[in-house]
Amino acid sequence: MTHIQVPFPEGFLWGASTAAHQIEGNNTNSDWWVKEHSTGTHIQEPSLDACDSYHRWTEDMDLLASLGFTDYRFSVEWARVEPVEGRFSRAELAHYRRMVEGAIARGLRPMVTLHHFTVPQWFEARGGWTADGATELFARYVAACAPVISEGVSHVCTINEPNMIAVMAGQAKRGDIGFPPAGLPTPDDETTEAVIAAHHAAVKEVRAIDAGIQVGWTIANQVYQARPGAEEVTAAYRHPREDVFIEAARGDDWIGVQSYTRTEIGPDGPIPTAGDVERTLTQWEYYPAAVGHALRHTAEVIGPEMPLIVTENGIATADDTRRVAYYTGALNEVASAIEDGLNVQGYLAWSALDNYEWGSFAPTFGLIAVDWETFERTARPSAEWLGSLGRTRQLPRTAG
Ligand code: NOJ
Repeated sequence: MTHIQVPFPEGFLWGASTAAHQIEGNNTNSDWWVKEHSTGTHIQEPSLDACDSYHRWTEDMDLLASLGFTDYRFSVEWARVEPVEGRFSRAELAHYRRMVEGAIARGLRPMVTLHHFTVPQWFEARGGWTADGATELFARYVAACAPVISEGVSHVCTINEPNMIAVMAGQAKRGDIGFPPAGLPTPDDETTEAVIAAHHAAVKEVRAIDAGIQVGWTIANQVYQARPGAEEVTAAYRHPREDVFIEAARGDDWIGVQSYTRTEIGPDGPIPTAGDVERTLTQWEYYPAAVGHALRHTAEVIGPEMPLIVTENGIATADDTRRVAYYTGALNEVASAIEDGLNVQGYLAWSALDNYEWGSFAPTFGLIAVDWETFERTARPSAEWLGSLGRTRQLPRTAG
């Protein structure tokens, strides 16, 4: 098998990502905790202890560093930091500061996400993102995170996948259950406006904390592909679900690209994935080329100067050899995007650990397996391989 030397530029971020609610456990003050335990919920199982990373984050970081990664993206949980409106927990801020320092001490550069899908219960109860004053409340929380992100943090993400927040708000407003068979629900325009305003306010706060921090947000990219003759339909479908959020990143320091699969669009809209196609545990089409398309589309919308960071990319599978194959294909795409001159500055896999996939622990995205009884962590062969690639830079060639 021929190999290519991956052309990662100097300072390239090489790591894995997680999110607080998905790994910490017992995030009891969050809106999700309430949803997980409400009667008649459509959520399959609650997050409960998740990976117990709230207590075991040192083990997680030890493993990631020993595997060869140099970057770790994790999130601060707003519901812990501000459990009651206007009351900030010094102990929780100190906890997240310890995580930042713990990462740096292990040679992992922390990328800190300030909001990853969950909000405090009190924020949801007062109407969430579209209620009066939501932007100011988020900005105040971001300012309160100053002790966490002040020193040694070079990358901050304000809001993870704002486009999915708008899509889920649209779905909730209409009272729909589940996603359509193909594509995404129609986003709620009011929520779109609100999260964009919240992002812009948060960027200002982060820069006020430290002008040296590189701040951005991360967009879910569904790789909408037009079937012949459906180019206009595709563009119209994609714009409110994706491009509007990419455009809102103008003036940021970087933009996060998150992709897993593709969505094909015909003249009548999204086309369900054919029955004979390989699917992952999330039922998405196995499509490692997605990240290349996502990077190219993002650069096209935002312009060639903007630094692109792959902040999530990966596969839920019970077969770790498919995980290696997926990352091999995906990284070939990243390499070719860099060769074509795209300003790609990092790659963070989703996910460091098997975790709570918003309703179920079944889709295993982890490079590291977690024993749900003992919480013991075991690095999978894919983790050893991917981690070492940061050093060897030798990637089996699949493309071109
Ligand atoms: C995007 C989200 O940011 C993350 O929370 C989720 O687990 C992965 N995609 C996989 O669905």
